[in-house]
Amino acid sequence: MGVIVVVGAQFGDEAKGKITDYLAADARIVVRTGGGPNAGHSIHLAEGSVVLHQVPVGVLRSGVLGVCGPGMVLDPRGLDEEIRTLQERRLFKGSLAISERAHAILPIHIAEDAWEEERRVATRPGAAIGTTMRGIGPAYADRYGRWGVRFGDLIRPARLADRLELLYATKPHLATTLQDRERVRTELGEVAARLAPFVQPTEPLLWSAVERGDTIILEGAQSALLDVDFGTYPYVTSHHPTSAGALVGSGLPPAEVTEVVGVTKAYATRVGAGPFPTQVEGDMGAYLQREGGERGATTGRVRQVGWLDLVLLRYAARLNGFTSFALTKVDVLGGLDDVPVAVQYVTPTGETLTDYPPADADELAHVTPVYEKLPAWPKFTANLERRIREEGARALPTELKQFIEFVGRETRVPVEWVSYGPRREQTVWLGKPHGSAPAGSVSAWAA
Ligand code: IMO
Ligand code: MG
Repeated sequence: MGVIVVVGAQFGDEAKGKITDYLAADARIVVRTGGGPNAGHSIHLAEGSVVLHQVPVGVLRSGVLGVCGPGMVLDPRGLDEEIRTLQERRLFKGSLAISERAHAILPIHIAEDAWEEERRVATRPGAAIGTTMRGIGPAYADRYGRWGVRFGDLIRPARLADRLELLYATKPHLATTLQDRERVRTELGEVAARLAPFVQPTEPLLWSAVERGDTIILEGAQSALLDVDFGTYPYVTSHHPTSAGALVGSGLPPAEVTEVVGVTKAYATRVGAGPFPTQVEGDMGAYLQREGGERGATTGRVRQVGWLDLVLLRYAARLNGFTSFALTKVDVLGGLDDVPVAVQYVTPTGETLTDYPPADADELAHVTPVYEKLPAWPKFTANLERRIREEGARALPTELKQFIEFVGRETRVPVEWVSYGPRREQTVWLGKPHGSAPAGSVSAWAA
């Protein structure tokens, strides 16, 4: 009940989409509150697998409204195609609303994304962010520059022409022609006509739902450590994938939030450039990449992998006010000799850090993580999965329960869900934490 905010607790790709889809079974509305086609949310259904980039996962369930919220930047052509593909595959079972306040990503933004990366590299080799090249940064920059094109403009032809003229005038560095602009205007006009029925004021839908007592899920995209202010700047995305950002990006007030679910893998991954203190390379790195299928759902890039980092997780927990964790991909670590977890950093000057990473990306890149090794749990087998389905969390391996308790104790945030595979049913609820029990205790195996 109420408003549940789902937030990525690491560098993205924690299976936020899967967890949101799981929680959506009890929800009426699922809202994407930020980002755009840089997200890749893979969902594995009985009917087949699908990767959602811009459409909220809510549309996969009948009776659920998916909302592309005001905080998003959306590529109209990609969105139009995504909707059509879902409809053709008969996966579009719910309904969709697109905020008139969401901004449009135009071809010029995608060109500018490349232009900016070239400037970074030309200034200092190695300075590239490794963006997804979807035009995210430039579209957000134009939004704040106040010459962006909103979906409300897109569906009004005269307004669109006006806004495009201004937008193109701000980009002399991209050497575009009048013909380019006119072509974009014509193409956009056609796409806009198809999207127009979905475009509407979305905040009142959410406010009414709150008044009715419906459950609303704010589906995170990107993650806390990619937050433009609180992430590893400048190796970040251009919005606020934190719980605070989810409110700005939806138009819901803070007091309505009932839960903030942090989604974290049992290890860590990162795509693109930027500091990654617990990165693992060599054979073990290759093993985790292979077992975890760690390849970007949006760009196809292989993700760097590493161990769970409690310094970053404690930081994310405080920044977002997580009320619980969904711990994902625990199956990937099954059968290892042990499971290392970074419990603190030591800086080059000998200082110890436990819950607040340096704001400077270079400094963060030069810390030395201190690991604690936890006993590994056995590999997940069909038999174990059957027992978990029948008996619930009680059937989880003892070593995994210890790991779950450890994460809860160290972060002071209890783990409430454990996901052990990509499919909907490979998720187990551990129960609500006891009111007076120490964080990390769960009711499920107390029985
Ligand atoms: P989901 O929702 C992982 C990363 C990019 C790059 C940086 C900036 O699937 O978790 P951008 O294109 O946003 O300007 O790129 O952010 N990045 C992601 N990494 N998962 C994502 O989304 C990401 N969205 C952006 O790799 O390092
Ligand atoms: Mg991704």
